[in-house]
Amino acid sequence: MTDHTTGPIDRRTVLKAAGAAGVMMATSAFAAVPRKRYAVVGVGSRSRMYTGAITGKYRDDNEVVAICDSNPGRTALAVRTIAATGASQPRGYKASEFDQMIRETKPQYVIVTTPDALHDEYIVRALEAGCDVITEKPMTTTPEKAQRILDAVRRTGRHIRVTFNYRYTPPRTQVKDILMSGEIGDVLSVDFTWLLNTVHGADYFRRWHSNKAMSGGLMVHKATHHFDLVNWWLGAQPELVHAFGSRQFYTPATAKRMGLSGAHERCLTCPEKQKCTFYFDLAADPGLKALYLDNEKYDGYYRDQCVWRPEISIEDTMNVMVRYDTGTQLNYALSAYDAWEGYYVAFNGTKGRLEHRIVEKVGAAGAGEVQSKSNLVETRVIPLRGAPRDITPWTGTGGHGGGDNVMLDEIFGTAPDDKYKRFSDERGGAYSILIGAAANRCFETGQPVRIADLVNGLTPPERAPMPGRDVPVPMPLRVKIP
Ligand SMILES: NC(=O)c1ccc[n+]([C@@H]2O[C@H](COP(=O)([O-])OP(=O)(O)OC[C@H]3O[C@@H](n4cnc5c(N)ncnc54)[C@H](O)[C@@H]3O)[C@@H](O)[C@H]2O)c1
Repeated sequence: MTDHTTGPIDRRTVLKAAGAAGVMMATSAFAAVPRKRYAVVGVGSRSRMYTGAITGKYRDDNEVVAICDSNPGRTALAVRTIAATGASQPRGYKASEFDQMIRETKPQYVIVTTPDALHDEYIVRALEAGCDVITEKPMTTTPEKAQRILDAVRRTGRHIRVTFNYRYTPPRTQVKDILMSGEIGDVLSVDFTWLLNTVHGADYFRRWHSNKAMSGGLMVHKATHHFDLVNWWLGAQPELVHAFGSRQFYTPATAKRMGLSGAHERCLTCPEKQKCTFYFDLAADPGLKALYLDNEKYDGYYRDQCVWRPEISIEDTMNVMVRYDTGTQLNYALSAYDAWEGYYVAFNGTKGRLEHRIVEKVGAAGAGEVQSKSNLVETRVIPLRGAPRDITPWTGTGGHGGGDNVMLDEIFGTAPDDKYKRFSDERGGAYSILIGAAANRCFETGQPVRIADLVNGLTPPERAPMPGRDVPVPMPLRVKIP
């Protein structure tokens, strides 16, 4: 791990250094560097990336000492799965035993992979107990919770890493590289549209994500990735947000338009499962069945709730405008019922335009059906004068376009110093979610929201150097917000 507290020393480094002196010395050096100790809270789907990495590729230097979950069935499953690797023997704890877990198992790091709105509680308690934290995105869901986290970091002096894996996806890192090169000059505006299709997009409306109090809605849960990308690509801080949002597709009215009688509770017991093209068979996938269906009896959580339910409280159609402290203006759109999945983004600079597009999947006829994977990646620079230049995209393998593997190497391995500064702490985590939280506030009030009015004491994170600006930063904002 590139440890931002103690520096990147691990067993492999010590063994390498000791190599010339023979095995005996290596063995004693090995013993002198204990493995890093991790506790994981929230052992659902996403936690497996971390526990799989710790007990797999990075097992020599890292171990899972404890796991904690509110669902005893998932706790037991995680303990069994991890122990079966032979690399770690974690102890399982209930959610109510979190502090006891830290006292007894003494982890150095707590990995937080619970539903989004619960992150702040575990982050703050872990920091207070003297641990550093690795948290999934979004860091949290509201400005108040973000403030709690910022205050706790200040109070304890401990460290947080927010795992923005999208920054590490090779073609997105390449976009950063081009922007850093100055080829398109100063970026004055950005146009960014993200499309979620009716398989992946619909899934947000089946799970806890469909409850805004739990996820912050897609503006926080999903767009945190996208706002973070723009903040990081530009090396700038957001200042002001305007937005519109609504739920137009995942409604009982759409169910009726599709010939159904209306919404039901869940797919498993749905009387219209033969007719509904959004039917999702939770029992058909052994992995999902073992993780969720078999453990419903403990907490009553259904992973396959009806996407047409009237009580869904998140939006599916969102448009946001953001002004940055550099004067750059962002125009962003997100929708969750599209015919293809992916995004396009364009940066308009003083010397030219950078366009980048990824089409992940096209044409999904029904939930659970095989989609045609497109994996189209296009990047090109169009100078203001001269010929356009098509760019061969950087590639990677593994989850999230190869981003997960690069990030895991930085967290658990020995990655070199990163000139793109892809590591994010609580400041990057906060700036990203505050755009979403501001958008959520705009949805209710119709008024613009100033980021500086949402939290106190937030300072800009460390950024990779960007080319010097040719154009002066515009006049300070003169927006009156009632
Ligand atoms: N970076 C990415 O690309 C990515 C991808 C997927 C998920 N995520 C994030 O990972 C996190 C987990 O998502 P997931 O898909 O694994 O969800 P999940 O529903 O599969 O797992 C969440 C787990 O938390 C447990 N939990 C619920 N309440 C709890 C409590 N009070 N205390 C302890 N545990 C509790 C649940 O029982 C469940 O096991 C979320 O924050 C999500 O946004 C990130």
